[in-house]
Amino acid sequence: MSKSRTQVGIIGAGPAGLMLSHLLSLVGIESIVIENRSRDYVEARVRAGVLENDTRELLIATGLGERMVREGLVHHGIELRFDGRAHRIDLSGLTGGRTVTVYGQQEVVRDLVDRRLADGATIHYGVEDVVLSGMESDLPTIQYRHNGSDEVLVCDYIAGCDGFHGISREAIPESARKTYDWHYPFAWLGILATVPPSTDELIYARHDRGFALHSLRSPELSRLYLQVDPNDDLANWSDDRIWSELQARFATRDGWQLHDGPIIERGITPMRSFVTDPMQFGRLFLAGDSAHIVPPTGAKGLNLAMHDVRALADALERHYGSGADDLLEGYSAHCLRRVWRAQHFSWWMTQMLHRFDTADGSYRNELARSELAYVTSSAAGATMLAENYVGLATIG
Ligand code: APR
Ligand code: PHB
Repeated sequence: MSKSRTQVGIIGAGPAGLMLSHLLSLVGIESIVIENRSRDYVEARVRAGVLENDTRELLIATGLGERMVREGLVHHGIELRFDGRAHRIDLSGLTGGRTVTVYGQQEVVRDLVDRRLADGATIHYGVEDVVLSGMESDLPTIQYRHNGSDEVLVCDYIAGCDGFHGISREAIPESARKTYDWHYPFAWLGILATVPPSTDELIYARHDRGFALHSLRSPELSRLYLQVDPNDDLANWSDDRIWSELQARFATRDGWQLHDGPIIERGITPMRSFVTDPMQFGRLFLAGDSAHIVPPTGAKGLNLAMHDVRALADALERHYGSGADDLLEGYSAHCLRRVWRAQHFSWWMTQMLHRFDTADGSYRNELARSELAYVTSSAAGATMLAENYVGLATIG
């Protein structure tokens, strides 16, 4: 068994864990990242791809923006499509010039890994049997197996950045946390296709057949989603069926055309909203999906993770710099204010855009149609959507 020591032990090399490690290194705080998957697996995992205005700024300000600025696509608006008609939400015009950047989450992860390794960071991939202990002591520890040997990492602090299915959250005794959980009666079937996007801006479409989203990754790569039943199976979805369903849901009265092409990646993701409160126990701090998840409709998951780790890095900088723990003590309450704003926004976008087949579906579907009509015809309604979508600079 070998024993090592670090200031901050970080569990998980997703966007939250890697960004935390990067932010800490910029202020001279040492960390070690452990990840149970392989580097290839983590970098290939296709996830959402919309960066809020402030996430873009953060990446640039911390020296991670070079490729994103070159390859990411800056968007000033989105389209809401329903009843066969297109309605543009002028994100920039309604928010004093703020924008979103379309740049795949796995590209953010690749940029982070490259930079951390160039800076000499330690990231252990493929670890197993991770166990946390001593969170209420001054020296919490992480035990794990790596390359066949037992390791003990003694830390000042532990950051649980291990996503929704990680072990960190479960290390907080149930009596010390409250959870909020919401399931949706649908899932998203997502595809990546090598075909130029049929649109310059993202299209969120509501149709009697269900929701559809047209997003993109590059001038040659389209990303599209369909609302499906959560128990549906990819085997039921041939390429032809996927494209014809997308065609049906995006159809407009003026004959808008969706271009199809080879599908290179596909998957079905259930939708769920979840929050754990508090996001801290002793010297364990949760950040990102380990503490909260949102349905992808509002594109908030990655952005919330970035906000959490920025707050945690600031709090740790204050601790090591001046010995003051006020930011660490306020970390959970501070993050949860933004988490709940994003929870509401993601839930709101989801219920407005999806078709409900539930017993109360006929009522919900009419409410959703009315809400869409309001949002696309009222400056107040459109501004509410726009300012949440690009990301609120401050949360009341
Ligand atoms: N030990 C070590 N690593 C673990 C463990 C474990 N026991 N369990 C999970 N992990 C790893 C996962 O393999 C993953 O690489 O933790 C990482 C968590 O990364 P993400 O799931 O990407 O979560 P996070 O970094 O919080 O990023 C949030 O990711 O899920 C999306 O949409 C979400 O955009 C959001 C973003
Ligand atoms: C994506 O591009 O993958 C994407 C975009 C917007 C969303 C969700 C996913 O709301």
